[in-house]
Formats: sequence, structure tokens, C-alpha cells
Amino acid sequence: MITEIINSNDKKAMQRAADLIKSGGVVAFPTETVYGLGANAFDGAAVEGIFTAKGRPADNPLIVHIENMNMIESIAVGIPDDFYLLYEKFMPGPLTVVLHKNKKISDAVTAGLDTVAVRFPRHRTAAELIKKSGCPIAAPSANISAHVSPTTAEHVFADLNGRIPMIIDGGECSVGIESTILDLTGDTPVILRPGAITLDMLRKTLKEVAEVECRAETPKAPGMKYRHYSPNAELRLTGNRGEAAAFYDEAAAAGKNVALIVKASNAPYYGSRNIFVIPDDAKGYAKKIYALLRLAETSSDTIICESPETSGAGASVLNRLNKAVGKSGFKTDGRSETL
Ligand code: TXA
Ligand code: MG
Repeated sequence: MITEIINSNDKKAMQRAADLIKSGGVVAFPTETVYGLGANAFDGAAVEGIFTAKGRPADNPLIVHIENMNMIESIAVGIPDDFYLLYEKFMPGPLTVVLHKNKKISDAVTAGLDTVAVRFPRHRTAAELIKKSGCPIAAPSANISAHVSPTTAEHVFADLNGRIPMIIDGGECSVGIESTILDLTGDTPVILRPGAITLDMLRKTLKEVAEVECRAETPKAPGMKYRHYSPNAELRLTGNRGEAAAFYDEAAAAGKNVALIVKASNAPYYGSRNIFVIPDDAKGYAKKIYALLRLAETSSDTIICESPETSGAGASVLNRLNKAVGKSGFKTDGRSETL
């Protein structure tokens, strides 16, 4: 299969993308978090195509993307007041909520669960694609399963060239890590995956918000049990630049091709070592981390990465990096545990 890359400003090509979705195909598209791989959420066979293209385990459900509130009732039932409070404050934006499912949504989307994850993305191109397609779009991140999520069209192409018919290029994603997932189906709203919308932000809108128990046998977000966000290289994470330099020298002495991802303010410390520089602030770090992991993996078999700051969105990035090194760290205060 030839994979075509179209420009998001090309109106005719955008119509062809929508026609592909309508006819049961899959299309990769930009959102403000990461690129998604979309299909009609009402069409089970189309949704199966996403799982095949990504090599995704069938028991890992997808997020359904909408572009206006009228779509919500065809997706979910028994929608709680909290949803509308969150809608006022954070939507469109990088927040996904888990609700009770409307039976119209294909079982392929929800992996047989009776709940469904819904997101209203802020990206203009995502909204345009959903609107032109005339249906909610089910989409996971547009990477090969377990790899680092894509934040540019080139990243999607690198993973899925020949496996999907079309990628919409809308430039670099502004947030850079996947949405916060909040489960609204229980007594207390629970964060299943941290993201740019943080616990503190949610607690200003909802009375009570909890974080998921990280030792649960069956994680509520099924995807969290899989190895995830992993570059094709050994990844080591440290908060200490002395340790980062020592790890580097040790690996280099053992004959490895080593890369360091370091905060801009620490860059001079590393001398002539092979470094990739990332912004110090949590938002800038989140925006660049996946691109730098993908860049570093092309030339290195060992990547040593300076941890982000642990407050706010930084803690959400740390969650991803802990997953990438094989830990199941979840608590957004930066603590992590290995299962
Ligand atoms: O920012 C994002 O959320 C991106 C963009 C494309 O929207 N999407 C994304 O999708 O990260 P994905 O499939 O890579 O991650 C979705 C996560 C998985 O961990 C999955 O298990 C969980 O959401 N999930 C989906 N439906 C669920 C449900 N009904 N209950 C609990 N977790 C669910
Ligand atoms: Mg993903």
C-alpha cells in the first residue's frame, strides 16, 4: 500500500481524507497531544483496520473523538453532571473522559468494555476531519504498538509507511504527550493516565478527584498494562547530571553508541559527549521528548535521559518515561513502582 501524506491546509485533500473515513478506511491525523490513527467509531470493520495497522492487542480499547457536544449522546449514556463541568472548563482540549457506553459504539472500539473513552480535541484539523466525515472518530496514537507516540507526520510515516493509505500533515503537536484520562463511571472521578490537564487543575473544577491505584491486577485503562512509549534502544532515566555522565561513560566504554537527552541549562556540563538538548520547563520538555527519543534511537543503542521536573505536567511526562523504561510508575507526584 502507498502511504500518501497530505497537507492539512489542502481543502480538496481534506475532503478525500473524510471520504476515506466514510468508506471504512483509516487516516492518521494531528491532534494537539499526539497524532492519532482514526476510523469511523460506528464501523467495527473499519476500527479493526486500526488494530491491524498498529499491531495493537485487541483487548486495548480506543478513544472516540468528537467535534461538537451533539455527538456525545450517540456515544455515551447516563452522562454525569461532572462531565458538563469539565466540558465548560477543559473542552476542546487534552482531556479524555470515560463514560458508560452507548451500544451504537462498536465493541471493537471498547474491547468489549461497557464504558467508552471520549475526547474533544482542540486541534483545528482534527475537528475538520471529524466534521467532514460526519461521524465520531475512534483513534489511538498513530505509532506501531508499544513505540513512542508520534508528534509529527514524519514520525507517523516512519512507523506506518505502507500500512495505512493516508497521513494528514498538520505540523508539530503543541502538547506532545497523550491526553489525561479521567474515569467518570465510579463514585469518585479517577485519573487513569496523567497528562497536561493535571490533578490540581481538575480539583479546581470537581469536588473530588483520585489517582488510580498503580498496583491494580487489572488496570482500569487496559493499555497501561502494556510496555509503552518505548524507543528502540535501551533507555535509562536519571535526575542527576553526575549520574547521567557516569552512565554515559560506562556505556561508551562498553562500546555502545550512547546519546544523552539533557536539559538546556545542563548542556555545557556534558562537554563533548553526544547530547540532544531539551527545554528545562515542563511544557517545553513534554512537547519535545518524543521527537528527541525518536531522533536518538536512530543513531544510538543506549539513551540516557535527564528526568523532567516533577511538578505539574512534568509529572505526567515522568509517568511516560517510567513506563518506557519498564516501570509502572503512576502517581503524579513522581513516585514510581515496578510491578
Ligand atoms: O491524546 C490522546 O489521548 C491520543 C490522541 C490521538 O487523542 N490518543 C491516545 O490513544 O493516546 P491510545 O489508544 O494510545 O491510548 C488510549 C488509552 C489506552 O491506555 C486505553 O487502554 C485507554 O485509553 N482507554 C480507552 N478506552 C477506555 C475505557 N473505556 N476505559 C478505560 N481506559 C480506556
Ligand atoms: Mg498509544
